[in-house]
Amino acid sequence: MARRPSGTVSPRVRCWHDITVDLPEGWNRVRRVVCPGSFDPVTNGHLDIIGRAARLYDEVVVAVLTNISKQALFTTDERVEMLREVTVGYENVRVARFHGLIVDFCRANDISAIVKGLRAVSDFEYEQMMSQMNYRLAGIETLFMTTNPLYAYLRSSLVKEIARYGGDVGGLVPELVLVRLRDRLGQPPAI
Ligand code: PNS
Repeated sequence: MARRPSGTVSPRVRCWHDITVDLPEGWNRVRRVVCPGSFDPVTNGHLDIIGRAARLYDEVVVAVLTNISKQALFTTDERVEMLREVTVGYENVRVARFHGLIVDFCRANDISAIVKGLRAVSDFEYEQMMSQMNYRLAGIETLFMTTNPLYAYLRSSLVKEIARYGGDVGGLVPELVLVRLRDRLGQPPAI
């Protein structure tokens, strides 16, 4: 994974022939952000946010919550595996698991910001509350990205519900997730 060298002195950069300028302190810090979630399972909406974050930041850590109080369709290992497979094309994305507080994960991994997708106004209140709490707890910023309108109505719980009753979730989740969903729900593979 690409890392910028970190230095304690203000770096200088040659920007035009022999002209050099001093850059603000911290310019060469690795901009590492986290996309946290349950990802049960990962959807195309998640992937859209992860991909856009990967274009903006040096490193994106996709952090999969191991939530013991929530009944998940896929185990944490399975969710991590699916995410690794679908993000394999991004060299600056890595997938990790976490439990406990996201701010502790951020501190342990030198992450200064959380990237979240906002689908609609209905997401906002809860997300705002979490972002303010995370900032209060550890000074961790939350950056919101509006989702691609194509996926504005998409959430993992809906995907599972529709798939459970035999509805078509093609185009909403990556192909390999479709296969895993059918398998998990005891449905025959698509022809
Ligand atoms: O995909 P989800 O389930 O909507 O993701 C929610 C998640 C994992 C981002 C959120 O529940 C979380 O950060 N959980 C970790 C526990 C935590 O830090 N709680 C305090 C938040 S202020």
